[in-house]
Amino acid sequence: MDDNRDTLVAGPISMSIALTASSQVGKFYVFEGIDGSGKSTVSKLFAERLAKSGRPVEWTAEPTSGWIGEQVRRANKEARSDFAETLLYVADRAEHSAQIRAWLDDGRDVVCDRYEGSTLAYQSVTLRPHLGPKALEWLRTINAPFVLHPDVTFLLRIDPETAMSRVSKRGEAEKFEKVSFLRKVAAMYDRLAVEDLSYVVIDASKDLDEVLEAALSHLPR
Ligand SMILES: Nc1ncnc2c1ncn2[C@@H]1O[C@H](COP(=O)(O)OP(=O)(O)O)[C@@H](O)[C@H]1O
Ligand SMILES: [Mg+2]
Repeated sequence: MDDNRDTLVAGPISMSIALTASSQVGKFYVFEGIDGSGKSTVSKLFAERLAKSGRPVEWTAEPTSGWIGEQVRRANKEARSDFAETLLYVADRAEHSAQIRAWLDDGRDVVCDRYEGSTLAYQSVTLRPHLGPKALEWLRTINAPFVLHPDVTFLLRIDPETAMSRVSKRGEAEKFEKVSFLRKVAAMYDRLAVEDLSYVVIDASKDLDEVLEAALSHLPR
């Protein structure tokens, strides 16, 4: 990642200029939604379809498989501080964003399974006991210096019970996989979808084919 440091320092302002100034820059597609909404499944199929259409594509996910991503997984299990866990997610994204930016600048489309929206939706719930309604604003502030702005953010919208029945096959529910918690996260996602113009809401309770086609229908022609 050393060779990406200069691009990270350059920040989001030059990114937006680059996106409009050059048709060579790739498109950045993000999939968001609660656990079990279908993000991993649909985003991989979406990336496959883009690749089949001849686009150079990178599929990627958060938390990443890199060294900070490993610490995020550890924090999910071991962290006593909600802030420590949050800051690790954000550190992982800072490193990841430099990589994503390099791919986009190289003309590759990037399909990402979870990005900033996940921190805004989940951590504004976990930090609410500490920061109250200001949690969202603080989370936006600490992401802002480096975060990239997706061309499209697909919000796979589904009720938590249906989502949980899908992931119950995965075995014991993880920390976040609790219906009452996910209901609050889903409400935050709904708010983000109103406030952020990159969001496209998709009914993820439908059959997989329909969900995929709904996402593909938003590709630029
Ligand atoms: N539209 C769908 N209808 C039925 N099952 C689905 C659908 N989308 C995904 N699934 C299944 O639900 C489970 C959770 O999907 P996954 O992609 O892992 O969700 P997420 O990454 O959002 O947690 C998987 O077993 C997947 O095959
Ligand atoms: Mg997943």
